[in-house]
Amino acid sequence: MNLGRLNHVGVATPSIERSVALYRDLLGATKIHDPFDLPAQGVRVCFVDTPNSQIELLEPLGENSPVLKFLEKNPAGGQHHVCFEVPDIHEAKAEMEAKGAKVLGEPRIGAHGTPVIFVHPKDMGGVLVELMETPKGH
Ligand code: CO
Repeated sequence: MNLGRLNHVGVATPSIERSVALYRDLLGATKIHDPFDLPAQGVRVCFVDTPNSQIELLEPLGENSPVLKFLEKNPAGGQHHVCFEVPDIHEAKAEMEAKGAKVLGEPRIGAHGTPVIFVHPKDMGGVLVELMETPKGH
C-alpha cells in the first residue's frame, strides 16, 4: 500500500453552524456543502471544500457519539483525524494489522459513501487516521 491522496481533515466542533461561519467569514471558504446526519457513526457532518481537499466538520449526534468524548477534552473543538484514500479498504485493513497497527472496528460506510476504517492514534504518533476507499470514477 502506498500513501494516497489526503481526502479530508476531520474537525470536531460543538456547533457546525458556528464552525461554518468561521471557515466562511474568517478564512473565506466559498464551497460549503449541506450538513447531514450519519447516525451509524454518531455524527452530523458538513464538508467545506478547499482547492485541494476538504474539511469535515463533525458535530456529535446522539448520546454515544465518539465526538462527545473528544469535546469533553477539547470543549472548543479541534482537529480530530486526517483521512487518506486507499484503493481497497479490506486490503488496507489487512496490511495495517499485519504491520501491528490497531484498526478500530470493521470497515463501515463513511461520509463519502465508501467504506472506511480508523487506525488507532497510539500506533500513528498520536494522530487518528481514517483510511477511505477512493470513490469509483475518481
Ligand atoms: Co473523516
